[in-house]
Amino acid sequence: MTGTQPTPLPAGAFVTVCEVGPRDGFQIERGFIPTERKIAIINALFAAGIRHIQATSFVSPRAVPQLADAEEVLAGIDRPEGAVVSALVPNLRGAERALRSRVDAVHLVVSASETHNRKNVNRPIDQSLAEFERIFDLLRGSGIRVEGGIATAFGCPFEGEVPPEQVARIARRYQELGATRVGLGDTTGMATPPTVRAAIRAIRAAAPGLEIGLHFHNTRGVGLACVMTGLAEGVAYYDASVGGLGGCPFAAGATGNISTEDLVYLLQESGYRTGIDLERLIEAARLTEQVIGRTLPGQVMKAGPRLTRHDPGAVATAEG
Ligand code: COA
Ligand code: ZN
Repeated sequence: MTGTQPTPLPAGAFVTVCEVGPRDGFQIERGFIPTERKIAIINALFAAGIRHIQATSFVSPRAVPQLADAEEVLAGIDRPEGAVVSALVPNLRGAERALRSRVDAVHLVVSASETHNRKNVNRPIDQSLAEFERIFDLLRGSGIRVEGGIATAFGCPFEGEVPPEQVARIARRYQELGATRVGLGDTTGMATPPTVRAAIRAIRAAAPGLEIGLHFHNTRGVGLACVMTGLAEGVAYYDASVGGLGGCPFAAGATGNISTEDLVYLLQESGYRTGIDLERLIEAARLTEQVIGRTLPGQVMKAGPRLTRHDPGAVATAEG
């Protein structure tokens, strides 16, 4: 094998599944989800074995009213041993809030597309990056890890294609600032296997040694296909949301992130280790569905694990 070829993640490897539903999913729900119900969902996810979770955001409550209770959520959850609880942070003000709260990590966010960054956080990309330098300075030595997030990494709803070199430039900047992992966000569900491959390879060339995390939305039905591409490229870190919670502001009724249960099912059936109990995860997805009050798009939560046995007496004919 030549040095330029990727090494696929071998079967038996541990894959980190980061639950982002309480941040990416809840943020677009209109009706305010009571804080104690958010806490109950996060605790159910912990009980299923989830250890990486983006629990909330430190953003302007005017921009995202649903997550105005970030401090209360973080103070109320029962953290198991080994849990890594993170919060999304777009600016210095968010990092200052993180410093006063019980988070293990902050997930910074800047978009790879200029227009999306202005729409999302009201500033140019380079201004976000300049502020991140101050955030790294602020949090250095605090015990809070800083993760680099890049939104619209696989396409922008305003600008169209996003050049992989632009994603790689931002990733490299994160690495220079001290990040050890960069998360590529498929903010509006535009990722496809070729765009995923191109972004990963561009980052590996520009920022060797930087760990990559992948964050897909299933807006166009190819979220898990993109995960397969990530695995083939050796990526071992994926975000997902319980029940497939979430949506896309540019596609009414679209599904959200890839569902955590569907992802865990795929990984386990492919021979990877996740440390997650699928049955209990499905219970957490059902609880989430109850709290949200509508059917969620997750598929394994409906069909059950593959070897679920059905009572032959319960069906008249086995059509199909
Ligand atoms: N937490 C709480 N409040 C914050 C804040 C933070 N991290 N950052 C800014 N604010 C408050 C300011 O105090 C100010 O409040 P006021 O109007 O009561 O005086 C107000 O928000 C505006 O502050 P400003 O610095 O002018 O920010 P802005 O209006 O340019 O907005 C962001 C920038 C980043 C704060 C805002 O766009 C935002 O929160 N975006 C988040 C978007 C998001 O979460 N997207 C989805 C995830 S990718
Ligand atoms: Zn997302």
